[in-house]
Amino acid sequence: MQRETLNCGHYTKAPFMIPAPTEAVTITQMLLDARRRTLGLIADLTHSQLLGPRLAIVNPPLWEIGHLGWFQERWCLRRRGGDALAPSMREDADALYDSSAVAHRLRWDLPLPALDATLEYLAAVLERVRERLSQPDPELAYFAELCALHEEMHAEAFTYSRQTLAMRAPPHAAAETAARAEACAGDAEIPGGELLLGAPRDGRFVFDNEKWAHPVRVKPFRIARAAVDNRGFAQFVEDDGYARRELWSTEGWVWREGVSAGHPVYWQKADGLWCERRYDEVHPLALAEPVMHVNWHEADAYCRWSGRRLPSEAEWEFAAATAPGAELSKRRYPWGDESPDPGKANLFGSGNGPVPVGALPAGDSAWGCRQMIGNVWEWTADAFAPYPGFVADPYAEYSEPWFGDHKVLRGGSHATRAHLIRNTWRNFYTPDRSDVFAGFRTCAP
Ligand SMILES: [Fe+2]
Repeated sequence: MQRETLNCGHYTKAPFMIPAPTEAVTITQMLLDARRRTLGLIADLTHSQLLGPRLAIVNPPLWEIGHLGWFQERWCLRRRGGDALAPSMREDADALYDSSAVAHRLRWDLPLPALDATLEYLAAVLERVRERLSQPDPELAYFAELCALHEEMHAEAFTYSRQTLAMRAPPHAAAETAARAEACAGDAEIPGGELLLGAPRDGRFVFDNEKWAHPVRVKPFRIARAAVDNRGFAQFVEDDGYARRELWSTEGWVWREGVSAGHPVYWQKADGLWCERRYDEVHPLALAEPVMHVNWHEADAYCRWSGRRLPSEAEWEFAAATAPGAELSKRRYPWGDESPDPGKANLFGSGNGPVPVGALPAGDSAWGCRQMIGNVWEWTADAFAPYPGFVADPYAEYSEPWFGDHKVLRGGSHATRAHLIRNTWRNFYTPDRSDVFAGFRTCAP
């Protein structure tokens, strides 16, 4: 089973505590911000791009846009308790847009409404949600926040789909990050100890897969201060890394043979120099930037070649969230508890792609690890699995269906919205996915 971009779920009867609501006006702002971003990402799509090619790793954009409205209506306007749902304002909404019920391969064949009608549906839903948010309702506030985050996650998916399909770079309104790189070589030496892995019960919104912080023992380890850059990964490629069977796991070799991979998917050679396609343009490979669009198998093979290994989730979180002498009191972000800003992390709105791995030293963790939040998602060694005592939240198909065969990524990318990410956030993809904005950092063996 493979999570294609994102999925959506049904109500469960599991006991569920609604966290303290974020102030309604803030949630309204989140919904509006997310919508503005969605509209910006789809504004230039041509008629044929609205449906696009049938690929397992993308959705037809016209379907995905309508799905955003369906999800918001389903969770904010149609809940009636238990599994019961009020009718949608569109009679055909469930038949078209329920991602749990409509098989991915069929989404190109649906009688989808035209873009205008689809956007009218989204606007009508959002208008009604805003009206309801004017009255205090903690449960609605929770689900509205869920919908804002859901739309932001789809916005990141729209963004990497534009890369997959070689479309123009997405529009970005914000100022460029001052991306002056500083040296960030070597490993951080971390003594280990007890870590409270997972999200603290601080009343803020978290997804079910982060619940709850629980003690785990972490042995002393050494983790790279920076992500692997293109210069380092090119050495692996040039050393025939993709052709040497001994560097690959069995599953990884099957993947490599299946697609005849000899280098990262968007790399190409021109006049003896490595170049990389970014959206619809090809540029010389930016050697100081993190290697990106590599899947878990490629990260794993690089580690064998370099005599390193991927960090476990617990090691990654230990390096990002703890501080020497204060291992049990975790930070929300590597630099502390203050919200992200462009001087600390390359998150959505900070630029138009990754920055060099040595940039943004102000965002270092207490152990000196750089860019653990932002720039590129980082593959970890671990399979996506529930924490002890896991109970699915109402949006039950967010996590549970994907336990087992997905790998965990941490930290967010340059296309991740700042208010969506934190040290405990767990993303997850199958190990063959190289379309997402993912790279990795390594640990000493
Ligand atoms: Fe979704």
